[in-house]
Amino acid sequence: MDTPGFFKVRISTLIPEKPTSFDLYLRINDQNIIYLRAGDKLVQEKIEALGSRDSGSHFLVKEEDRKAYKNYVHDQMISEDLNVREKAILLRESSMTLVEELYENPDVNKALDGARPLIEEFVTFMKAEPEAMAHLISLSGHDFYTYNHSLDVGIYSLGLAEASGISNKKELEEMGIAALFHDVGKRQVSLDILCKKGGLNDAEWAQMQKHPQYGLLILNQNDNISDAVKAACFEHHESWTGNGYPQSISGDEIHPFARIVAITDTYDALTTQRSYNVPMKPLDAVTMMKEKLAGRYDPDLLKAMYSVLFKLKAA
Ligand SMILES: [Fe+2]
Ligand SMILES: [Fe+2]
Repeated sequence: MDTPGFFKVRISTLIPEKPTSFDLYLRINDQNIIYLRAGDKLVQEKIEALGSRDSGSHFLVKEEDRKAYKNYVHDQMISEDLNVREKAILLRESSMTLVEELYENPDVNKALDGARPLIEEFVTFMKAEPEAMAHLISLSGHDFYTYNHSLDVGIYSLGLAEASGISNKKELEEMGIAALFHDVGKRQVSLDILCKKGGLNDAEWAQMQKHPQYGLLILNQNDNISDAVKAACFEHHESWTGNGYPQSISGDEIHPFARIVAITDTYDALTTQRSYNVPMKPLDAVTMMKEKLAGRYDPDLLKAMYSVLFKLKAA
């Protein structure tokens, strides 16, 4: 359901009793009705009442107020009023709707440019708060949609990149963008295939396996995308021992970002609830990847993944 000129914001990202700097609209009977004017406050009871309605998980905000909303979230992220956990929730919740747009926006370049400030906010948060990553990770993995998947792979990849010794802010940001867009090529795969329950037939599987190529074609259209981001997208289904796709390259030939995403991508799939599986516990998932899927992943990075999970335990 698209409403031109508006974007979605989750109600959970609005702070009770804090005046907003933008108007809030609700979608009622196919019309956008103004609900709260800029400068007014949302009281707790109203938030709760709205949460129980069907249309209640989000408001609409006018496109021209996008910056005001971004600043509103940013102000909370640097304020003393919220603790680390509340900030992690706010950042994740406010990102969800954005990531949704990244995959649905017909203008991919715009979506790619829009992702950068989002990832910067994540990297700034993890640099400022030692426990940020643990909280972000503990909020991940509850249910599986392409958007959640991309955001969660983004979060895990930032954690794994840091654990593997990448500390440079710019490099971490590139990692975040790379992970967020690793499956962007799935935009070109038909929804019937993407959402099919049970196994795919040969033709469908061949289609699905093209998503790294499709992704590369999409990213090539944007001048601001680095080779590292393209490599992560194109090579994240390669395997350490060389029997992955699409190129069957191996070991160091695979870009480090792609090796990281290969791990976090599988980890997310194994630990996330989908309609047809029972999610695995974090440690079980990594252990299985080490034992049953041995050879697919960079062994040093897989080791580093354990230390990311220790952080999770700490939270
Ligand atoms: Fe993929
Ligand atoms: Fe994926």
